[in-house]
Amino acid sequence: MLVTTKEMFEKSRKENYAIVAPDFWDSNSCKTYVETAEELGVPVILSFAQAHSEMLSIEEACTLGKYYGEKASVPVALHLDHGLDVETVKKAVDLGYTSVMIDASAQPYEVNVARTKEVCDYAHAHGVVVEAELGHVGSGDVITSENKEALTDDHNIYTEVEMAKRFVEETGVDSLAVSIGTSHGLYKGTPVIDFDRLHELRAALPVPLVLHGGSGSGDENLERCATEGISKINVFTDFTVAAIESSKKEDYINWYKLLLDANESIKNKLKFYYKLFHTGKA
Ligand code: 13P
Repeated sequence: MLVTTKEMFEKSRKENYAIVAPDFWDSNSCKTYVETAEELGVPVILSFAQAHSEMLSIEEACTLGKYYGEKASVPVALHLDHGLDVETVKKAVDLGYTSVMIDASAQPYEVNVARTKEVCDYAHAHGVVVEAELGHVGSGDVITSENKEALTDDHNIYTEVEMAKRFVEETGVDSLAVSIGTSHGLYKGTPVIDFDRLHELRAALPVPLVLHGGSGSGDENLERCATEGISKINVFTDFTVAAIESSKKEDYINWYKLLLDANESIKNKLKFYYKLFHTGKA
């Protein structure tokens, strides 16, 4: 069944676990994520990132997500990940996504508030929930066990607690992506997570917290995030890595077989994350 994240998050916050938000990029990955959740009897936040529009348009992704989500035996939220502009996010609401993210985290605070509020007002009037990001989860090098200084153009800005409280009050946002040390994509080494900041944010904010950049962040780090305050963990790169690793297992001459085996590897990776995040049954 297709739902918003509201009830999923109420339960996960109460029981201190996280739900995986895997990004799909085609029908194979979309179907595989839903099948995996059904096998385990857990909810899934089926995510499609606007940045992947060269593979699927947001309309195509919505059609796929609705098809698999509506017939699923477990709760499925269909989420637009990293909506980059207000118009696209409003369009996603009109199309039937049940959850949307407006990502204005690289903008000044006032711009982030204004865009998030505009999306919240629109989405809430249509029964859709909204995620925003404050601070900024970048991509590329971050502070890791091997690299003490983060050096990249798209660098992390850690989320400030007081600013986050104000942001939630001013926007009415339903969940908040926070920056506590992870980054999108792969790392050299393991990132250093600011757990003190996570605990402070969890104690201060009335809304569920989201962690972006789950891939390669270290199993111990992720398990702690899931059980110490994060309600949703976004993962994309690790599923593509699983598919690539799978494609090297044999000297494939059959593309169809290669894809089927890759789906199986993606499924195993997703099962691994559900276990690591202690995700409760739907
Ligand atoms: P990774 O690719 O690092 O897992 O990040 C995914 C993500 O945060 C999508 O929003």
